[in-house]
Amino acid sequence: MSVKPLRECGPAARIAVIAGDGIGKEVTPESVKAIRSAITSARRQIEFVEFDWGADKFLREGVSLPAGAVEMLANEFDAILFGALGDPRVPSNQHAADILLGLRFKLDLFVNARPVELFHDRLTPLRDRSANDIRFMVFRENTEGLYVGVGGFFKKDTPDEIAVQEDVNSRKGVERIIRHAFDYARRNQLKRVCMSDKSNAMNFAHDLWQRVFKQVLQEYPEIESRHLYIDTLAMEVVRDPRQFDVIVTCNLFGDIISDLGAQLAGGLGLAPSGNIHPGRTSLFEPVHGSAPNIAGKGIANPLGSILTSGMMLDFLGWKSEGDALRNAVRSALQENFVTPDLGGDKGTVEVGDWIAKRVGDR
Ligand SMILES: NC(=O)c1ccc[n+]([C@@H]2O[C@H](COP(=O)([O-])OP(=O)(O)OC[C@H]3O[C@@H](n4cnc5c(N)ncnc54)[C@H](O)[C@@H]3O)[C@@H](O)[C@H]2O)c1
Repeated sequence: MSVKPLRECGPAARIAVIAGDGIGKEVTPESVKAIRSAITSARRQIEFVEFDWGADKFLREGVSLPAGAVEMLANEFDAILFGALGDPRVPSNQHAADILLGLRFKLDLFVNARPVELFHDRLTPLRDRSANDIRFMVFRENTEGLYVGVGGFFKKDTPDEIAVQEDVNSRKGVERIIRHAFDYARRNQLKRVCMSDKSNAMNFAHDLWQRVFKQVLQEYPEIESRHLYIDTLAMEVVRDPRQFDVIVTCNLFGDIISDLGAQLAGGLGLAPSGNIHPGRTSLFEPVHGSAPNIAGKGIANPLGSILTSGMMLDFLGWKSEGDALRNAVRSALQENFVTPDLGGDKGTVEVGDWIAKRVGDR
């Protein structure tokens, strides 16, 4: 079956590269190197344009997300390859919020796709689980929920203080992420979709999730649909991850359950993600942050960023190139050609060079 890409970029793609801060600046060039090595066919072309948005620029010029940036990215680029943001010199993290949350919300990137795939048995903390046992996709709603910043303080900084944070769920927002999860399952011939909420306690917001889920699942009769409360899901994912193909949930729960998934599959250094709006400019970033504790030492693991690039190539419809990156990462793990966080002794650039060569040799 041929799978329709989420973005029709044809034979040429334009990619905005925002490496950001800390180890973002170290791992992102390794990703670009790997992509260049994967794009060998004359039928494909890729243009990278780098943007220096991050803490240095913010501290120097007071600019986080420049004026007109969102429109420029939406109109002129197919995708954004992102590193990480966060710098101890900016304790408020203002620039990171402006850039990353700004792009997520303003580009309406409503899908946060976080694949959980164990590439090598030794990397999971679960006993008696092998690579075939841990392979599922988490879709987290990315533009609503508790993260929209609606709320306020009353009697702030007094003993009677009250803080309110609203959980915002629109029918349109809930429906499009649930539908995306089912479409993904159908496109990839996966059998099971699990929706997770806390409708037993959150009897308005998650009642909406319940009703929309029951409505949408009827359009996908070939897919086994299931519901689990989020606390049960957290237990079941650890007890037996083989039960899951696709999980879909709200912003807060997706944030947490996908991090749990990342640990089951080797940890932060290996976890990729995509912030996606099908058909529109979308943003791909490794799950990890800027890791100031190891930044500048040349030991950051570039594999999470390289797997992220694989997701970006899939999004562009360049599946065989995406597979080439994933296969090279699998080989690096098998041969233990890895950075210290995975028990190896290699540096960021060494691993990046190894991957690029392996991809090029295929
Ligand atoms: N999307 C993002 O840009 C993003 C995400 C998370 C955190 N942050 C920011 O990053 C900064 C640091 O946050 P944190 O320390 O909580 O999270 P972090 O992900 O940066 O680091 C957590 C731990 O994991 C290690 N680690 C992370 N990625 C690694 C890699 N590729 N290779 C080897 N080790 C790796 C770090 O050394 C650290 O010990 C903060 O400013 C935070 O706000 C940004």
